[in-house]
Amino acid sequence: MQNPADPRQIALPALRTPSSEDGARIWELVRSCRPLDENSMYCNLLQCDHFADTCVIAELSGEAVGWISAYVMPNDPETLFVWQVAVSEKARGRGLGALMLQSILRRSACRGVKRIQTTITADNDASWALFGKFAKLQDSQMDIQPYYTQALHFQDRHKTENLVTIALRARARLAA
Ligand SMILES: CC(C)(COP(=O)(O)OP(=O)(O)OC[C@H]1O[C@@H](n2cnc3c(N)ncnc32)[C@H](O)[C@@H]1OP(=O)(O)O)[C@@H](O)C(=O)NCCC(=O)NCCS
Repeated sequence: MQNPADPRQIALPALRTPSSEDGARIWELVRSCRPLDENSMYCNLLQCDHFADTCVIAELSGEAVGWISAYVMPNDPETLFVWQVAVSEKARGRGLGALMLQSILRRSACRGVKRIQTTITADNDASWALFGKFAKLQDSQMDIQPYYTQALHFQDRHKTENLVTIALRARARLAA
């Protein structure tokens, strides 16, 4: 008999490369994961289509429960920029965020990638925890600098986004 309280019996989400048909579901998932910025559905569709090789969707019984949008920087092929990470409430706390990030970095599209970058606002504890954990896994530090600032870039409509850089020192561990 199934016992949902037993973590050994919780099914693992399946990870895969998205396709354009996933755009609308990803839009719904991102909207449900506050405090993520809501994008237009068209933006998520483009991510799923043009940036599919560096994005990942996680599904549990056919439902989208996890998502990372990322891209290799157009002016720097050694840097993967992580745009958004979303895990639905029901799938949180089981390492899915870090697992999805590792799955992107293992792909051939990331063969030349030597570091990841993302931006995080000071108050996003979950995001700091997720990337802090990933940095530890890589025997690396988080280099942190204010980047898109509240006053200069956001006209006081959004908190300052700090640029976080994590060097991939332990690429072999991505295969684990
Ligand atoms: C951030 C998010 C993607 C994490 O997903 P997840 O699959 O639950 O993450 P993990 O299970 O890999 O947890 C990573 C670490 O973060 C910690 N963490 C998760 N949520 C946290 C929170 N709200 N506050 C503090 N720490 C948190 C976990 O405890 C874990 O550390 P541990 O293994 O040492 O205990 C998910 O909470 C989410 O979608 N949040 C809303 C959207 C968001 O803020 N996205 C930005 C993330 S870049």
